[in-house]
Amino acid sequence: MTVTSEPGEDLRDKPATAVERLTEFTGPDLHDLCDAAEAAIRQGGGFGWLSPPPREVMEAYWKGVLLVPERELFVARLDRTVAGSAQLVRPARNNEAQAFVGHLTTAFMAPWARGHGLARMLVEAIEAAARRAGLRVLNLDVRATQEVAIRLYESLGYRRWGTHPHYAWIDGAWVTGYYYYKDLFETDASSGDGNSGEGGSSGP
Ligand SMILES: CC(C)(COP(=O)(O)OP(=O)(O)OC[C@H]1O[C@@H](n2cnc3c(N)ncnc32)[C@H](O)[C@@H]1OP(=O)(O)O)[C@@H](O)C(=O)NCCC(=O)NCCS
Repeated sequence: MTVTSEPGEDLRDKPATAVERLTEFTGPDLHDLCDAAEAAIRQGGGFGWLSPPPREVMEAYWKGVLLVPERELFVARLDRTVAGSAQLVRPARNNEAQAFVGHLTTAFMAPWARGHGLARMLVEAIEAAARRAGLRVLNLDVRATQEVAIRLYESLGYRRWGTHPHYAWIDGAWVTGYYYYKDLFETDASSGDGNSGEGGSSGP
């Protein structure tokens, strides 16, 4: 499934935006995904990597993602070029107790593609895929320093339930992490403002 810009929108002056699930790499997509990830890592939002690994390691990582049965890879395109991605991780088959709980992870956009609504489209596409897969809850975690991402998740109804003061070790210091969940079937009326008491609606 591909999600694209709003129908009827005047796209003459706007770059085309789209989000889709990838199940194989064709054309320049793997190369572009590596480029986008490297740019995000250099800018400081590299889903774990603090500096870009060698290109063959990065390519092997993405190819490996497609091989993991529980993982679904979604990419965001700006004018058809892959510019970012995120993954839905479904529970392992042995995990009956959490069979309805998924994880939204490794979300990033290349700096040159930010501000076009693609991250919001990615999260919404992953939520739709999770619902189709029968999941009821999505979990995610994020560095407290990723303020744009935090605002995005809270605006989409993710509730902060925990804070980990030793979440990541970056440049010789601990970085705090926040843990979020979203009940995918909770109605707006019962979800309040979409934020937990701990963080309120203002973020860090
Ligand atoms: C967080 C991130 C994925 C957002 O990507 P994006 O495609 O620019 O986001 P969008 O264009 O969908 O914008 C999402 C919201 O953030 C706002 N936003 C985007 N960039 C912003 C900025 N620099 N300052 C303030 N707000 C900003 C948008 O206005 C939008 O709000 P709205 O939907 O209420 O209008 C991107 O900034 C990024 O990769 N950051 C580093 C890595 C990271 O934080 N990953 C998430 C870790 S879990």
